[in-house]
Amino acid sequence: MTEYTAGGDPGAAKPAYLIRGVRVVGAAPTDLLLAGGVVAEVGRDLAARGARVVDGDGLVALPGLVDLHTHLREPGREDAETVESGSRAAALGGYTAVCAMANTSPVADTAGVVEQVWRLGREAGLVDVQPIGAVTVGLAGERLAELGAMADSAARVRIFSDDGHCVADPKLMRRALEYVKAFDGVIAQHAEEPRLTEGAQMHEGEVSTRLGLTGWPAVAEEAIIARDVLLAEHVGSRLHVCHLSTAGSVEVLRHAKKRGVRVTAEVTPHHLLLTDERAASYDPVFKVNPPLRTSADVSALREALVEGIIDIVATDHAPHALEDKECEWAYARPGMLGLETALSVLLDVLGERWDLIAERMSRTPARIAGLVEHGRNPAPGVPANLTLVDPAARRTVDPSEQASRSRNTPYAGLTLPGRIVATFLRGEPTVLDGKAVK
Ligand code: DOR
Repeated sequence: MTEYTAGGDPGAAKPAYLIRGVRVVGAAPTDLLLAGGVVAEVGRDLAARGARVVDGDGLVALPGLVDLHTHLREPGREDAETVESGSRAAALGGYTAVCAMANTSPVADTAGVVEQVWRLGREAGLVDVQPIGAVTVGLAGERLAELGAMADSAARVRIFSDDGHCVADPKLMRRALEYVKAFDGVIAQHAEEPRLTEGAQMHEGEVSTRLGLTGWPAVAEEAIIARDVLLAEHVGSRLHVCHLSTAGSVEVLRHAKKRGVRVTAEVTPHHLLLTDERAASYDPVFKVNPPLRTSADVSALREALVEGIIDIVATDHAPHALEDKECEWAYARPGMLGLETALSVLLDVLGERWDLIAERMSRTPARIAGLVEHGRNPAPGVPANLTLVDPAARRTVDPSEQASRSRNTPYAGLTLPGRIVATFLRGEPTVLDGKAVK
């Protein structure tokens, strides 16, 4: 019988952990033995044999969460976030993998920059950091970036996005879709027709009229999604729609999926919970792009997420330094923190629908990103990437307690359900007892 020791079991290099009596999605409580980076055994009353025991009573084990849309800000804005601080925030939020957006400074539009981000992620060792490459040089929307070189680099980039900017030129968008088809890559579009959103400050509607702020009409998003699903269909490539935010976009997507277009879409936690009424406070913490929409949009997004028309939840974690947020609304940068609160917001929105949560926050995003070690239910031989959640806990969000370097959470003071108790990356804890391990 193999003896497992918390200091390193003889059969494998990684320390062993025995999680006792945890509820695995869709199953009765069981024990999970993690050793050698994988789930070594699953069953009742497993012998500890030297492994460190974690009490799983009352906890739910989910496959480690996967975020397809994270802004880590390094290189360039390390005052707002670094790969390491963002990775820690991710681990505390239950994530084991994040896809790092390309709008850094310099922009991640070369093999050199994506490899730098990838290497920093490995050094931090808290989550797997998978860089996203820019579609166009400098996000300028004029020339295609080195997509092939980024795909061939050590970072093995498969998702490309100009997020923050729309690839507005249809010819460039077509070329990008054609290019990535060769290696089954995906173009993740920030759907915003720029001519329709010039000077926009918030959602265009009743509230923007009342506040006298320039509006960002829903059609600016819907028109680009409609165009892009037609382009994706024409080319036969994969399209992913970033932070979908309107009821009309859901209908465009429904139509495209019915036609068999290879399109997936994400929704953010904030678009599932908050509405444009928040702008009435003029607190820039609620300024985000695309903007918070109406309660009718929120309802449509929730239904589409449950139905599967929207495939995944992605955070669009967008840390901003104080001077970029504690200023007048018009001058503030758009974006909100999301990694450390996403699961709680989803529990609030969906209730304890664990299988749905695992599908939308782990399995499907892992599949879209091609992260084969992630998004798998705990079973013997599967990489031990998982998170333990206490569904009975409630917590009040305190910006000063966030591991992120930034403080721009829109949920300050809000009490939300659920707490991440532990996160394991390849069998090693990154979070234990609700605290980061390193
Ligand atoms: O609100 C946003 N912030 N939306 C984006 O698309 C970009 C992001 C950022 O980088 O801050």
